[in-house]
Amino acid sequence: MRHGEGFRAVTTTGAPHGSVPRHVACVMDGNGRWAASRSLPRTSGHRAAEATVIDVIETARTAGVEWLSLYAFSTENWRRPAGEVDFLMRLVRHAVRKHAPLLHARGIRCRFLGVTDPRIPAPLARDFDDLMTLTGANRGMTLTVAFDHGGRGDIVEAARSLIRSGVSAEAVDEENFAAHLPFPDTPDVDLVIRTSGEQRISNFMLWQVAYAEWVFPPVLWPDFRATHFMECLRAFQQRDRRFGGVTPNANGETRP
Ligand code: IPE
Ligand code: IPE
Ligand code: MG
Repeated sequence: MRHGEGFRAVTTTGAPHGSVPRHVACVMDGNGRWAASRSLPRTSGHRAAEATVIDVIETARTAGVEWLSLYAFSTENWRRPAGEVDFLMRLVRHAVRKHAPLLHARGIRCRFLGVTDPRIPAPLARDFDDLMTLTGANRGMTLTVAFDHGGRGDIVEAARSLIRSGVSAEAVDEENFAAHLPFPDTPDVDLVIRTSGEQRISNFMLWQVAYAEWVFPPVLWPDFRATHFMECLRAFQQRDRRFGGVTPNANGETRP
């Protein structure tokens, strides 16, 4: 990949000077701790997270981010208490139905990554499908909600699909392997934001984050707002992305 790829000029009011990452992915973490710090049940933290989600979608779109991915529920999150899982399913269904008209009006194309486990309530899966259909032709920002998602699982599924296609082992390369991942038109992630101070991947879009920049704001997801998001974009702009190469100097020389 060429140095500088994944960047585009900022043209929108409110965006930082310079360039914005083309694909931003958020690990929305810290809901439980937000609630605990207020002596509230964990579910209150999830409910409070909804306002942040809307704020981040709107801020990303206004800043000129073309692809926004949000990690909402991992394949490992099924290990949580049944009551919390059930609450999350109902909360997400409510949010999808409530915000569908606004997302569509903003020209956002919505996708749901994962959603394979039979424990997902059928009406929720239908609402996901309906929103994908409703917004499928939109040409604004693409919003990918990772729900019942696991990066390793996606890679295993891609391997299965590749084998089924009958391709010979020698013919497999990174490009045709990636074509078997779900939503293969998704560009590599440029910036991952993980809130709450935790510093790990937690099985998130493993293939796509191979060369992402990472930021770990300490703020808990329900407290994360537009200003924090813009700070993350500014931090990204300070990074020197080399993609394994060396940074050319002002004369175009590549000596460090
Ligand atoms: C993230 O917040 C939301 C989901 C994983 C669904 P957490 O629920 O993980 O919050 P903490 O990490 O316990 O604070
Ligand atoms: C990752 O957060 C998954 C989501 C944000 C949806 P977790 O809170 O579940 O991750 P771990 O368990 O701390 O790694
Ligand atoms: Mg967590």
